[in-house]
Amino acid sequence: MIDSHCHINDSAFVNNPEAYIKEAKDAGVAEFLVVGYDLKSSRIAVDISKKYENCNAAVGIHPSDVKRMGKNDLNEIEILAKDPKVLAIGEIGLDYYWDKDPEIQKQQQEFFIKQIEIANKLNKPISIHCREAYEDCYQILKAHPVRRGGVMHCYGGSAEMAKLFIKLGFVLGFGGTLTFKNARRPKEVLEAISNEDYVLETDAPYLAPDPFRGKQNHSKYLYLVKEKIAELRGISPEIVDLQSTQNFNRVFK
Ligand code: NI
Repeated sequence: MIDSHCHINDSAFVNNPEAYIKEAKDAGVAEFLVVGYDLKSSRIAVDISKKYENCNAAVGIHPSDVKRMGKNDLNEIEILAKDPKVLAIGEIGLDYYWDKDPEIQKQQQEFFIKQIEIANKLNKPISIHCREAYEDCYQILKAHPVRRGGVMHCYGGSAEMAKLFIKLGFVLGFGGTLTFKNARRPKEVLEAISNEDYVLETDAPYLAPDPFRGKQNHSKYLYLVKEKIAELRGISPEIVDLQSTQNFNRVFK
């Protein structure tokens, strides 16, 4: 399996990536996309990707972090993104759940668009974080097409919107939230999409799947996401592994 979104660069794991990678590998995870959310975490993601062959990096400024970042940080992101081990710009996007202030939301939109421009300039896909902002996110992507597409990380929108994002060249990332008891929406989405439209992720250390909900997440729990998708789509976990791996490689490599 490939964990298409994890934060080995988080303080929870950064002191011992080797142990993290080994534990995950023993649980069937062969590859990791280590995703940045500000300049510092993006730098660490690149460092990790340089040190471990099965790790690649995404660099970018998360919408919830834009208020403490400057435009110059975007230049630094662009320089970092030129590294061949950087497969994507991310995680970038919009988060209106944590930021209700319209001024800050506007700032998020500006950073999102600027980072889409970096992705297009370097011909790389993007990893999108979107929370309570699906309509604005879709409008931005429509007005600023991402040449290489990318992933809607931790997709939590409707099945209808999912089809629109897929049409724009995106796959959907599914993680721990899929396994939660009240997860009605992701289930509807998974029934509505095709084999080519999804990848697996943990978002570790966040959003641990059931039965570890509320605890620290880890890529070693990725199999729980795989099994849930298999159950919902009525196929074997091996097929989910195969399809999601193919999808990851098509989008990111
Ligand atoms: Ni994340």
